[in-house]
Amino acid sequence: MQANKTILKALRGERQAVPPIWMMRQAGRYLPEYRATREKAGDFLSLCYTPDLAAEVTLQPIRRYGFDAAILFADILLLPQALGADLWFVTGEGPRLSTITGPEGLRALRPVDEIDAVLNPVYETLRIVSRALPVETTLIGFAGAPWTVATYMIAGRGTPDQGPAHAFKDADRATFSALIDILTEATIEYLSAQVVAGAEVVKLFDSWAGSLKGRDFDDFALAPAARIIAALKERHPGLPVIAFPREAGERYVGFARATGADCVALDNSVAADWAAEHVQVDGCVQGNLAPGHMVTGGPALDAATRDIVRAFSGGPHIFNLGHGITPDADPGNVQRMIDVVRGGQADPAA
Ligand code: CP3
Repeated sequence: MQANKTILKALRGERQAVPPIWMMRQAGRYLPEYRATREKAGDFLSLCYTPDLAAEVTLQPIRRYGFDAAILFADILLLPQALGADLWFVTGEGPRLSTITGPEGLRALRPVDEIDAVLNPVYETLRIVSRALPVETTLIGFAGAPWTVATYMIAGRGTPDQGPAHAFKDADRATFSALIDILTEATIEYLSAQVVAGAEVVKLFDSWAGSLKGRDFDDFALAPAARIIAALKERHPGLPVIAFPREAGERYVGFARATGADCVALDNSVAADWAAEHVQVDGCVQGNLAPGHMVTGGPALDAATRDIVRAFSGGPHIFNLGHGITPDADPGNVQRMIDVVRGGQADPAA
């Protein structure tokens, strides 16, 4: 049965007449059933660490929409927490962490082989979801890429330009590289344990890759991704990996070849026709509808969806948004997008 899963076919490089579909942040606040379960959990982190409830919200968008993939409900910041950082979420603002400001901050981190003490509930969520999923649905595990996770560990919060992480890197490249190395090793262990627990595909979220330029992009986006992917494939032969170097722009070109990723996820700042020509030539791509369409809907949503399906119709493609769906999205627009992808004909004249 596994061989017939549409997501796995795309990741093996198969072109399909109807692309498989899932959505970043598909379990989230735009869904009333998510808000109800989150209320039951009390707060976001309790939801992440309560396997029955995390499994429930992972499954909600599958039940409602029949997406081709379920993505583990967790957060990229659980890994720094497992390494010893304090983590909390401020309602309406986002994450807060204790900060790392120098070498002593690295020395205070817990050893990589101790992360499972905190992360075991995440693996339990995967085991529960894996048993409950329809046979045709693929289970995706994930982690943040080292650079993106480091930006939060250094600044203690989300930042518009990742200024504190850039300042740390520029002031003390050796210590910064050591932090990236620790995160690379921890990410290998974390994702490997997710695969053992039932993840069939893993995705690496490098949400802030776009602010790395030149040699910094090579050293802190490309190299860690290549190392993580090589180690995972050695331990789990045939494991498909999706990489998301968000806002990498021109650096999307060749990213899959350089890192060994089976699929590159595209944000909505790149034109689908350009990406088909320059990125899809290397294999599967995922994306890249602007999440704003899930708020505004209407004929513009239909047209933009059709255009992406058409642009990527010549090769392997997984339909997705270019970034996470936002809390103000209309659940009806999600259904409308799915109907267009699954039912709509690509323009035969194109
Ligand atoms: O995609 C999914 O449905 C799976 C679950 C998932 C979440 N976060 C749940 C979540 C995934 C894959 C993530 C990844 C994540 N988390 C990233 C990388 C992807 C991206 O969006 O760029 C980043 C940078 C984070 C860190 C993070 N978590 C931030 C900045 C925030 C606050 C912003 C917000 O939307 O409130 C979170 C919180 C978060 N993670 C929520 C969800 C559903 C909202 C929390 C809530 O319910 O209040």
